[in-house]
Amino acid sequence: MFIESIEKSKKNLKISDKIKIFDTTLRDGEQSPGIALTVDEKIQIAKRLDNIGVNTIEIGFPAVSEGEKESARKITELEPKADLCGLARVVKSDLDALLDCDLSYVHTFIGSSQLHREYKLKMSKETVIEKAVEAVEYGKEHGLTVEFSAEDATRTDIDYLIELYKSVESAGADMINVPDTVGVLFPSATKILIERLKEEIKIPISVHCHNDFGLAVANSLAAIEAGANQSHLTINGIGERGGNASLEEFVISLIVAYGIKLNIDTKQLYNLSDYVSKVTGIKIPPNKPIVGGNAFAHESGIHVDGILKNAATYEPIAPELVGHSRKIALGKHTGASALKSKLNEYNISMDENQFCNVYDEIKALGDKGKTITDADLKAIAITVLGKS
Ligand code: KIV
Ligand code: ZN
Repeated sequence: MFIESIEKSKKNLKISDKIKIFDTTLRDGEQSPGIALTVDEKIQIAKRLDNIGVNTIEIGFPAVSEGEKESARKITELEPKADLCGLARVVKSDLDALLDCDLSYVHTFIGSSQLHREYKLKMSKETVIEKAVEAVEYGKEHGLTVEFSAEDATRTDIDYLIELYKSVESAGADMINVPDTVGVLFPSATKILIERLKEEIKIPISVHCHNDFGLAVANSLAAIEAGANQSHLTINGIGERGGNASLEEFVISLIVAYGIKLNIDTKQLYNLSDYVSKVTGIKIPPNKPIVGGNAFAHESGIHVDGILKNAATYEPIAPELVGHSRKIALGKHTGASALKSKLNEYNISMDENQFCNVYDEIKALGDKGKTITDADLKAIAITVLGKS
């Protein structure tokens, strides 16, 4: 059977025993145009991320503003279980800003692709390596855990990328991160890249995938298949342009599709997603996997009939696993069993004739393009019962 052959092929993957979940909602997520979180909102999100059990929270970019420093300090004072990390360019003043907030983990970065070196940084390959090594050494001298990112890694010449990563590894970096800064990777290419880096680099490897072509989660999973130890993620996939890899999609795929154990309390995902959506103002599309309003909603008669007999017929996971709930929607696709179940839910009983009238009314409204809410159903039923 196909499913059995999938199970066998999973055994050939190079998945690491311990996969770390690095959340960057408060840093890359907040970099989405239009989002500016208050210190209090950042604290609330950090607390919730800590509660669901992520390994690392990137709390922001302390060098950019006083507000960033204040939230970094306040989140540090909470003494969460998760490691707290701050972003820094490979410049001492950025690392100092982070030390000033008592953070003990830095994510430091510099552009590595020719585009970034020549147009943005105006630096030679050698200078980029020099600056990266200096920053890593400075971080280590000050007792920091250092994760190093080669920004735009996926558009960087591979030999140079390896040279840069090897240099920071020798300088004492604890982890390298591979940012797909403009989301140009695709899953098979991601696997080749990570496998190649694994041959050359001994410290753990992380990935940071952007969603410009809608492939961020698929690429992050492909990286894990190739042996990456960590993925950077954001709640609801928020982030610059098309966003980052979505934490909820990545986590549920790993647990359910790959069968990997993670210490994440998935039951809190829906509430966390809802909270982040409210405070950022970024609405969740109804068809968003895992947390969207329609993720566990059913309207078609055939589907609802199946769901009522065994929910697994049309649901890959139970909504409760992510703290969501099932919704039976009414409309032109509604079947008799869905309608009966809705009427039962509201303790409305009627004879066969009345039932047919309600059913016809719902179909007629659905055909006019109307969405029929539970309140509409109750009103229709009362009218029909009143007439007889
Ligand atoms: O996307 C990116 O390259 C980044 C870097 C700061 C790592 O967010
Ligand atoms: Zn990014």
